[in-house]
Amino acid sequence: MTRGVLIAIEGLDRTGKTTQTSRLLERLDKSGVDATLIKFPERTTPIGRIINTYLTDKAFELSDQSAHLLFSANRWELAEKIRNLLEDGKTVVLDRYVYSGVAYSSAKGLPFDWCLSPDLGLPKPDIVLFMKFKHEDNVTREGFGEERYEVAEFQQRVKTQFEKFQNEDNWKTIYVDNKSIEEVGELIWAEYEVVARREREALQKFTKL
Ligand code: TMP
Repeated sequence: MTRGVLIAIEGLDRTGKTTQTSRLLERLDKSGVDATLIKFPERTTPIGRIINTYLTDKAFELSDQSAHLLFSANRWELAEKIRNLLEDGKTVVLDRYVYSGVAYSSAKGLPFDWCLSPDLGLPKPDIVLFMKFKHEDNVTREGFGEERYEVAEFQQRVKTQFEKFQNEDNWKTIYVDNKSIEEVGELIWAEYEVVARREREALQKFTKL
């Protein structure tokens, strides 16, 4: 059996990640691929509930370090589930992951490497699709400004931090400017197919030995 594919969709707030992850899930399902969507922060776990309060209640104070470690701990709450799903051959789509954790916290001024260290050892995605606007169209999208980090100037800093990952071997930038939901969906699907084919070929080589 092939190990499932681990795909992370990343980006600033209001860049269409949630729309695209659910469309990807539907398409995987229609193609007969057993897939699961996990969204971070996962707000329903014990740690996720604290994170939700932090994000939605601006009067709820946490030091930047504490907030960062909670976001990371939230991923560790789900790490075993992700690993088990992949080992069972299931594809896992992540709506945000480690990269959001590092980008948002280092944009506040915390050291980049410090931010990365609590996430070391989490399952590594086969591919990270970074949804990017060349211009900051996300700040004019409906709903922007409702949560703690939805401030234009901060989003710019987060973008700079995200871009530090752009030379990683699993990183792909998807430019979303002036593209329809369907067009972005096609780009994401094409990237998924490349990775899925690579996994299948790796398995064939292995079984030929
Ligand atoms: P969401 O809008 O995708 O639910 O994410 C909520 C906010 O949390 C968003 O502004 C990004 C931020 N965030 C972090 O600061 N660190 C993290 O590790 C994650 C996953 C999200």
